[in-house]
Amino acid sequence: MMHLRDGQATATVIHREAYTAPAFWIDTVDLSFDLDPAKTRVLNRMRLRRNPDVPAQALRLDGDELNLARVLVNGQGTSFKMDASQLVLENLPEGDAPFDLEIFTTCAPAKNTKLMGLFVSNDTFFTQCEAEGFRRITYFLDRPDVMSSYSVTLRADKKAYPVLLSNGNLLAQGPLEDGRHFAQWVDPHKKPCYLFALVAGQLVCREQRVTARSGKEHLLQVYVRSGDLDKTEHAMNSLRASIAWDEARFGLSLDLERFMIVATSDFNMGAMENKGLNIFNTKFVLANSATATDTDYANIESVVGHEYFHNWTGNRITCRDWFQLSLKEGLTVFRDQEFSQDLASQALAGDEAAAKSARAVKRIEDVRLLRTVQFAEDAGPMAHPVRPDSYVEINNFYTVTIYEKGSEVVRMMQTLVAPALTASGTVGGLAHTGQEGFAKGMALYFERHDGQAVTCDDFAQAIADANPGTALALYLPQFKRWYAQAGTPRVHAVGSYDATTQRYTLTLSQSCAASPGQEHKDPFVIPVQMGLLDHTGREVLASQLLVLTEATQSFEFHDLSVPDGQAPVPSLLRDFSAPVVLEMDFSPAQLLTLLAHDSDPFNQWEAAQRLYMQAALSAVRAEGEPNQVLDAALLDALRTVLRHPNMDAAFKELVLTLPAETYIAEQLDVVDPQRIHTVREAMRAQLAQALHDDWAWAFESHRENGSYQPDPVSSGRRALSGLALHMVCLHARNTADTHWPERALKCFDNAHNMTDRFNALSALVTSGNALATPALQRFYSLFSREALVMDKWFALQASAPDRGGNVLPVVRQLMQHPDFTLKNPNRARSLIFSFCNANPGAFHRSDAAGYVFWSERVLELDAFNPQVAARLARALDRWSKLAEPYRSAAHVALTRIAAKSDLSRDVREVITRALS
Ligand code: PHE
Ligand code: ZN
Repeated sequence: MMHLRDGQATATVIHREAYTAPAFWIDTVDLSFDLDPAKTRVLNRMRLRRNPDVPAQALRLDGDELNLARVLVNGQGTSFKMDASQLVLENLPEGDAPFDLEIFTTCAPAKNTKLMGLFVSNDTFFTQCEAEGFRRITYFLDRPDVMSSYSVTLRADKKAYPVLLSNGNLLAQGPLEDGRHFAQWVDPHKKPCYLFALVAGQLVCREQRVTARSGKEHLLQVYVRSGDLDKTEHAMNSLRASIAWDEARFGLSLDLERFMIVATSDFNMGAMENKGLNIFNTKFVLANSATATDTDYANIESVVGHEYFHNWTGNRITCRDWFQLSLKEGLTVFRDQEFSQDLASQALAGDEAAAKSARAVKRIEDVRLLRTVQFAEDAGPMAHPVRPDSYVEINNFYTVTIYEKGSEVVRMMQTLVAPALTASGTVGGLAHTGQEGFAKGMALYFERHDGQAVTCDDFAQAIADANPGTALALYLPQFKRWYAQAGTPRVHAVGSYDATTQRYTLTLSQSCAASPGQEHKDPFVIPVQMGLLDHTGREVLASQLLVLTEATQSFEFHDLSVPDGQAPVPSLLRDFSAPVVLEMDFSPAQLLTLLAHDSDPFNQWEAAQRLYMQAALSAVRAEGEPNQVLDAALLDALRTVLRHPNMDAAFKELVLTLPAETYIAEQLDVVDPQRIHTVREAMRAQLAQALHDDWAWAFESHRENGSYQPDPVSSGRRALSGLALHMVCLHARNTADTHWPERALKCFDNAHNMTDRFNALSALVTSGNALATPALQRFYSLFSREALVMDKWFALQASAPDRGGNVLPVVRQLMQHPDFTLKNPNRARSLIFSFCNANPGAFHRSDAAGYVFWSERVLELDAFNPQVAARLARALDRWSKLAEPYRSAAHVALTRIAAKSDLSRDVREVITRALS
């Protein structure tokens, strides 16, 4: 509903505090569909009853873009009215007795460009109902706390739609007149309507029967278009691994006879956990060694895991309302992160150091995403708590804060049920480790809430109650500020050592900047995993957990004997134990010690990041051409890492990768994107030059020749040889050397897998070598029929380093390419988002042309797919931090969008917040 104020449309704000229970329950739903792209008929027969806990009132059913044909109550016609898009029934039977409500509507799937509700993609019907898409299929109480039993009958032309799927078990199927056929599905589990799904079309499937630990048999199926069957093995393997992992780690088994995954190439998001019938973006299903990179394989594993884990965390226990979204998303991201870590380290079982390193690699990747994207969100106009207080459009709140920060909050709960040092001394608990205590908490959560729609409070309470006496239980109300307060806390650390008493004092202070609607922040509960090293790198205080609960708090450590009385080096926030910014005045020498010797690989990596960042920031602030930004000691240390005989390649690749431009930008109050780009490019050139022989060695010695396996060791080797190839090609550019570009072209031509092939292509493109042009052409002709590979082709060109403003014209030209369409979200993301979000050096142009391009695309997208448009609209979230002339130009572009009177609610909310 839109209200008018000052001639501007302002949308209705939904508040968490305004939650009331539903006035009616819908116990059963019997849906039948006559599927037709132009006009699908939906008969919805429900059994309802009044909720006795709520005062009697009218029934208000949600609907969106539906054509209503008939409403019957207990088989009789009835009076009804429309209130905006809601169907209102006032004269329903009184009393508690159940009654039948039958609603007949039609909709037009072929015209559904929003990809919410029932839509058509490649002649196949799909649905997407989360968060509020079910109302585009039929009138309903479209809210997650209304859970019903579903029975679904699908009818369609048999030739055009041979496969008919919905949630649950297939009860019956057979032919009908006129070449049509039907299938009837019954879901044995109650569910909220956002988990409803149907699929109908020409699909093939890979299937496998598995026996669970309980001895129960299950049928697993992965459905794809007919040409894609050879790309389903990895998804199936990932699904089996997910099932085994959830049984082993949490005792949670598959509760369905049949579990289906279906891939579609038109999807707004990554994937969707519909009960028993997950619908996936093809990007997170399809892979073979010729078309998918190691990163694709890893993403498929984690997204398949994520959706599968939702079967318990999200589906069996769901959210009371959408403010609780992180209840399922934060928890499920945490679970998928743990799954990927466990899988990576299991692959290396037997080699403890390698297994630890593989876990750290995954952790570093997750933290990198959190810090570059979520920290920026949390410092900008869209900042919101993990459990928001209000929203205009719920689709705008599927954010990195809900997902990734939400996951960190769950991770901290796991950490805080282990023994810890707090303001009131050491606290323990019955469990020995956080993992053990957390698993107990999960068991209690399911014991209490299975089958319910609950809140984040219920979850935290269950974890705490299962772990009495732990820091989490002691500080629970304060801990829950992580759900309520937005913004990234900063922890300031000061250490002092008294050589005579052999005492080390660590003083930690915390603060958190204001965020929209939240001026003042109260102290958080912050777990700080730490240890101390002497200056030679020997650990003098073993890893332990401190719990910071006050604004300022000191911790003392006794009997620390260190050589020469030199102050110990603190290793703080090990494994990134809390989603905070740690501020400490480390000397370069201390950081070099941590990089070389810390027993915590995360902090080794972090030490290098701090050294890079110190160098980058002083170069950004200095005048003139950046030159020799990295000092000799750091370059030596980096060479040592690169050449290290025992460190694994994946870890080396992370240590040798510079912080992203956007992450550097977040450290500055005023951002000149061009300056940052110039400095970072100078650092890369220096790294390429100073370590040239080492890169050449790394390239030669990490090439994989065996058959392709996406395991952590060989993918790590490919990642490092790929980085090395980039570096030698970059150096070749600066020295007019032709050897390495020719080598890269040969690697490109002869590659045995997409990872190596794409790395070689990318090395040529990012180094701006002339050989990039024929290589891009050849890549196109090899893969023009593989949509996901074409996405890479578009994305690579849109994210190439800008040289004199050359990228925007290329992007505009690629928009005219016959294979480009804005209508397909993956393709739009590959070209437009790559340019606007992932290429700051090209996007932030002093002539404002990047921003003009952005605003045009936001408006163009908004006309048919508001969800995707709103995501793109966020590219200028941080405009107010930009230096001139960027700041004013960005403001003009934002204002231009805001001036459009018929913006979607989605884009309107994002732009309004950005300008507020
Ligand atoms: N619930 C999905 C997930 O996280 C994400 C999603 C949200 C997909 C909304 C589609 C629409 O797994
Ligand atoms: Zn999810």
